[in-house]
Amino acid sequence: MDKQEFLSLIWDSEFFNKKISRFNINKATEIENFYSSISRFNGDLVYLFSKEKLAIQLNAHFFLADKKVVFRKKIVSEQELFNDNHVESSTTLTKELLELAFLSGHHSRFKLDNSLNSKFNELYRIWLEKSINRELASEVFVYKIEQKEIAFVTIKKNGDSASIGLLAVNSSYHGKNIGSLLISAIENWCFKNNISTLDVATQLDNIQACNFYKKNGFDIKEVDYIYHYYRK
Ligand SMILES: CC(C)(COP(=O)(O)OP(=O)(O)OC[C@H]1O[C@@H](n2cnc3c(N)ncnc32)[C@H](O)[C@@H]1OP(=O)(O)O)[C@@H](O)C(=O)NCCC(=O)NCCS
Repeated sequence: MDKQEFLSLIWDSEFFNKKISRFNINKATEIENFYSSISRFNGDLVYLFSKEKLAIQLNAHFFLADKKVVFRKKIVSEQELFNDNHVESSTTLTKELLELAFLSGHHSRFKLDNSLNSKFNELYRIWLEKSINRELASEVFVYKIEQKEIAFVTIKKNGDSASIGLLAVNSSYHGKNIGSLLISAIENWCFKNNISTLDVATQLDNIQACNFYKKNGFDIKEVDYIYHYYRK
């Protein structure tokens, strides 16, 4: 087994103005490796990624911040003729899109962690801006009613796979199939771009999103338990 190390996260450290590292473990028993390494850690915060849930005493300095789930769908054919004139590609940042970006992160660990959440809006604004300018996304689809975006989705191509970044539907329009329509738009975009695997990460606690992806034919690929450890 590779030696487990603290991996410095430069972007996160600069953005949150804290020294942040990541530590990965595969089995719950490997928490012992984390404990025996922690005296060498001189930063502020560790994102501890575990493939299994840990049976440990948690507190305000060491807590489960996210049960991150990745859903996967194989793209095998085009969806039935997708012909909705409300959907278009977007390259313009609007206040409606910004509100939708904030909504897409409402279960994010960066919102739920009280030591990080003062930067939540800025984080999602940057993510949206870098998606709109195609740094972090290959395509952005919006669903418009009367020239206003009421839903959007971002997608990033990586070889023959792709992943959804941000996705949200204005809460006044939930349950009207608009999210599913955007998924169909994304699937057809994948099909045309020779992408065979579509992934999306969300939180197990986001029941709405988990049900939504299952309903749209996605299956769970993996779960990561992400703990935040603050050095006292
Ligand atoms: C998840 C989301 C995009 C779904 O969009 P939508 O347009 O409402 O979804 P659709 O109408 O196409 O599909 C509805 C399905 O979603 C699921 N769903 C929607 N609301 C739900 C709720 N309150 N509780 C549980 N499941 C729910 C169900 O599977 C539902 O199917 P059903 O009506 O047959 O039960 C939307 O709820 C949303 O924007 N949520 C907030 C942002 C978010 O969590 N984004 C995902 C980030 S990864």
